[in-house]
Amino acid sequence: MRILFYNADNQHDDIWLSNLRAVLPQADIRTWHAGDHEPADYAVVWRPPAAVLQERAGLKAVFNLGAGVDAILQLGALPASLPLIRIDDGGMAIQMAEYATHAVLRYFRRFDDYERLADKSTWEQLTPFDKPDFGVGILGIGVLGTRIAGSLLHFGFPVHSWSRTAKDTPGVKSYAGVQQLDDFLAASRVLICMLPLTPETSGILNRSTLSKLPRGSYLINVARGGHLVEADLLALIHEGHIAGATLDVFGEEPLPPAHPFWQEPRISITPHISALTVRAEAARQVGGKIAALERGEVVAGTIDRTKGY
Ligand code: NAP
Ligand code: GLV
Repeated sequence: MRILFYNADNQHDDIWLSNLRAVLPQADIRTWHAGDHEPADYAVVWRPPAAVLQERAGLKAVFNLGAGVDAILQLGALPASLPLIRIDDGGMAIQMAEYATHAVLRYFRRFDDYERLADKSTWEQLTPFDKPDFGVGILGIGVLGTRIAGSLLHFGFPVHSWSRTAKDTPGVKSYAGVQQLDDFLAASRVLICMLPLTPETSGILNRSTLSKLPRGSYLINVARGGHLVEADLLALIHEGHIAGATLDVFGEEPLPPAHPFWQEPRISITPHISALTVRAEAARQVGGKIAALERGEVVAGTIDRTKGY
């Protein structure tokens, strides 16, 4: 079996390869390099250029080394019938829950305000927010959003979700479809974006939607930079409608040094680390799923190409 590997991050490829070889000992695993047009049975990739996948003879499936497949689908290089399989949790859900819960608690407990007061050596007790009025809305309640919801419920937050189809996640009020988006937003004192990036969700965090949040709301974007119209967020923060944001993903990554977000103290920035692929677990998933495909089975995490996630 021939496996083609490509990782745009170009980091720890040796660890990736040894993890993959450990779970697929009989496979011939090679790293793609420019000019490689040789056949492969499977491609295991992260943000590949089109040449890695285009017209690759023998390809039976493509494995994405992360949850979001937007970068692959945007290439337009995959035949619609070729299975595209993403990492399903694989250790990312708990990281997302940690990150989102930390950001919600930091805003809810006013730690940013206390830091600013401490910078001025000021001892002052601020009025706490009222938890029953502090609705947390999660856009996208799939593998990762569900884990975030569970963590926030543990702290007693009123949690609600928005998805394409209605859900019955215990303790979480479900809103579904564009017709229920405005009601969902109106109930969200904190908005967490955990959607896949598709043509339908691109730019969904814009002036119109963010203005429907209650005044003084807080945004957490851990999905993709393409969900957010960055200038609209900045304007709404300056106007006082949005209190602040925690952002892990950006339209351009790395975020350029001159980007105005760096200068806005009400925006907290992390470099796309809210949930990192756990290499050993990802390799184990890929190995298990290749074995299942070879037995002719359908595997979990296969992307529905009509929906784009
Ligand atoms: P998932 O299991 O596929 O869940 C996606 C959720 O979004 C589902 O609830 C789905 O609704 C909902 N959704 C999709 N399109 C929608 C639409 N047009 N309208 C309403 N709801 C819609 O995905 P996941 O594993 O949780 O991952 C989500 C995304 O997180 C990934 O695609 C990736 O971009 C991002 N991510 C970021 C990082 C990071 O480090 N920043 C790490 C991992 C993942 P239905 O359930 O009704 O279909
Ligand atoms: C990371 O951003 C992922 O999609 O796994």
